[in-house]
Amino acid sequence: MNQANNRRGFLQAGAALAGSLLLPGALAAPGGQRLRLGMIGTGMRGQVLLRELLRRDDVEVAALCDIDPVMLGRALALADKLGKPRPRTFGEDRDPQAYKRMLDSRALDGVIIATPWEWHAPMAVAAMQAKVAVGCEVVAGITLQDHWDVLDTQLSTGTPYMLLENVCYRRDVLAVLRMVRAGVFGELVHLQGGYQHDLRAVKFNSGDPARPYGGGVEFGAKGFSEARWRTDHSVRRNGELYPSHGIGPCAMYTNINRGNRFTRINSFATKARGLHDYIVKEGGANHPNAKASFSLGDVVTTTLATENGETILLQHDTSLPRPYSLGFRVQGTKGLWMDLNHGIHVEGQSKPHQWDEFKAWQDRYEHPLWRKFAAQAEGAGHGGMDFFVIHAFVEALKARAPMPIDIHDAVTWSAITPLSEQSIAQGYQTLDFPDFTRGGWRTRKPIFGFDDRY
Ligand SMILES: NC(=O)c1ccc[n+]([C@@H]2O[C@H](COP(=O)([O-])OP(=O)(O)OC[C@H]3O[C@@H](n4cnc5c(N)ncnc54)[C@H](O)[C@@H]3O)[C@@H](O)[C@H]2O)c1
Repeated sequence: MNQANNRRGFLQAGAALAGSLLLPGALAAPGGQRLRLGMIGTGMRGQVLLRELLRRDDVEVAALCDIDPVMLGRALALADKLGKPRPRTFGEDRDPQAYKRMLDSRALDGVIIATPWEWHAPMAVAAMQAKVAVGCEVVAGITLQDHWDVLDTQLSTGTPYMLLENVCYRRDVLAVLRMVRAGVFGELVHLQGGYQHDLRAVKFNSGDPARPYGGGVEFGAKGFSEARWRTDHSVRRNGELYPSHGIGPCAMYTNINRGNRFTRINSFATKARGLHDYIVKEGGANHPNAKASFSLGDVVTTTLATENGETILLQHDTSLPRPYSLGFRVQGTKGLWMDLNHGIHVEGQSKPHQWDEFKAWQDRYEHPLWRKFAAQAEGAGHGGMDFFVIHAFVEALKARAPMPIDIHDAVTWSAITPLSEQSIAQGYQTLDFPDFTRGGWRTRKPIFGFDDRY
């Protein structure tokens, strides 16, 4: 039996035993076997994650798939630069289904999906059906039905699935998780987060692969990287299009799906001005794209209610000039933290009505993961958190442990988008939030961020 079949054999045996918690049997092989991982989508994000994979000794990047030869070439160059063997490649023929051949090659323990949003659900479903563990970039799907499909495929196949939500691993975010669990803020009452990031120079460029950010006002077929696909979502859709960076940490703080759940949701959207104004400013009023109309409100505000009585407010704000901020606020009966002013106030410990500088508190409550791996995370994307999210996926897979950000987290956070679109389309109606745990939230226990493993 060759190595690939061996892996498959372990997986199938594991599936029979472990039901919905199947973990890759291949890794049960003795001798510290390395994970053989593939990647679908080696674009700007894929390359950042690829660097993290290539830096590791416990991972062999065995296969890459992308339908853009420029991006595939850059990924191969990265492997060369870091002195790693060239992975097998798929997609040179520009066949959008090429990833299926990669999954069928039966040589992979897991796959990282870093493609445009509309591909995440079908690719994750195909990978899980092929018994290839999935690390999926945010989001999990587009429609509500996508989310049920991804969930039910994970449950029926037992193939591990993790949403690669990196902000959950941010240094201050993890320190605050420890503070929440230590009761520093008392009982949680209200939280805020969001995605507040001026993406105008991401949504538009000249199409020149040498300059992916800004330098033009093209999008769609004439754009490059995210301008090629992401901008179209702003044309067609109006809602909280990118919820997980904000909701991920807030959901972990409030134990969503693990003793708590979202019950109701609504969204409000402003008018859409920013993208049109940017096109006119950068490309002139006569540029053909000045006629494009955008559905996405410049600021979309979403409110969620939870079973345990908290409210969570999310803001999506990507089309106007503004400095980056995720706008976190965690507020309880004893005090609050806000990331924008790096401030914290804890009654009885802070001076009345005054903010303390957060840094001293962060040092005091430094998360064990950061205490252990800060040096290794140095230089990794997004201030180090990209090291941690890849580390978590790899270590959980090797340990055959449940994924720290699991399928229920993934679909619950990501389904905020279609629900938010529905709320706006129905005149800002408040909707029931589906229970993706089918009642399991009552007994499921929190697993994220308890120690220094993942
Ligand atoms: N977590 C984060 O901090 C973070 C940051 C940036 C992007 N992202 C996410 O990562 C994903 C990718 O974003 P990006 O910035 O790399 O975009 P990108 O456009 O630079 O890369 C996407 C790649 O997918 C490839 N692709 C498209 N369809 C394909 C198919 N059918 N088969 C194979 N390859 C295909 C494209 O050719 C492209 O190279 C998105 O979901 C995005 O939201 C996450």
